[in-house]
Amino acid sequence: MTHQTAFTLRPVASEDAETCASIIFRAFGRISAAHGFPSDFATEAAALGLARAFIGSPAIFGVVAVRDGRILGSNFLSEADPVRAVGPITVEPEVQSGGVGRRLMRAVIERAGSAPIRLVQAAYNTSSFSLYASLGFEVKEPLLHLAGTPRAPVPSGITVRPMTRADIPSCDALCEATHGITRHHELGQALSQFGPMVVERGGRVTGYATAPNLWLMNHGVAETETDLMTLLIGCAAATGQPVSLLLPVRQTSLFRRVLETGMRVIQPMTLMAKGTYREPRGCWFPSVLY
Ligand SMILES: CC(C)(COP(=O)(O)OP(=O)(O)OC[C@H]1O[C@@H](n2cnc3c(N)ncnc32)[C@H](O)[C@@H]1OP(=O)(O)O)[C@@H](O)C(=O)NCCC(=O)NCCS
Repeated sequence: MTHQTAFTLRPVASEDAETCASIIFRAFGRISAAHGFPSDFATEAAALGLARAFIGSPAIFGVVAVRDGRILGSNFLSEADPVRAVGPITVEPEVQSGGVGRRLMRAVIERAGSAPIRLVQAAYNTSSFSLYASLGFEVKEPLLHLAGTPRAPVPSGITVRPMTRADIPSCDALCEATHGITRHHELGQALSQFGPMVVERGGRVTGYATAPNLWLMNHGVAETETDLMTLLIGCAAATGQPVSLLLPVRQTSLFRRVLETGMRVIQPMTLMAKGTYREPRGCWFPSVLY
């Protein structure tokens, strides 16, 4: 396909979910298999779950590219909180490299207006990396997707427990202190969907993880490295499942400590941002959104 081939954009509709999911599943499957990494979507059912949730959410803008009535690809922009988050963007494999992805990216950038926008991409994906950079996204953090059951002694006086609605103001305040932004709505969504957890020290919430067993949706912050380490260990113990997260590995001593617990590196990724961005203060990790 050439850049001249005609296609149009329109808002995504609920009846597009199956087609979008099929493209998401095959597009991610192909690029990750080509580089020997696991796909972000292990099954088509997982892609369909995400497509249905994103298309059905009033807080998410979705757009599809269409030619002759056939969907060529889709893109989404999460708008629940002040920072906008791009993705997933996928283009039908047979029409990739033909300008569809660029148009789908331009659509969400235009939609975001003057709001800051962020995204996370697979660092081995030379196409998406180049595309986003050419559209003004700047590299902010090298990330590693880590997963496993961390094992290490935990200090006394620090406890890990499920987040409750009453914790949201404290978690919001921690996020504000670390990043200078609120993720208030996302915290509420996490509570109803992903089993978020908090760590407490001295009777205060000193850290949280929004989706301890699902790295795609798991973002978190903590006041200290020890709080974050205890949170990860406590989450694995409480849920009885491996934990997974995207660790910004410029936090070098934290990275070393996480490796020492036995967690394993799955794949390299990159946090990119366009517009206002404040360097984080403290310990943190982003979800696949930001
Ligand atoms: C990433 C993806 C959405 C891009 O869509 P696409 O339709 O293939 O992209 P486009 O053709 O519009 O744009 C790609 C741009 O990157 C450029 N590019 C690609 N590979 C490049 C490389 N190795 N070096 C430099 N530039 C490169 C292309 O030249 C093109 O720029 P141009 O418009 O100036 O020619 C699509 O490839 C895809 O679905 N990939 C699999 C799923 C995925 O990884 N999604 C992204 C998740 S973060």
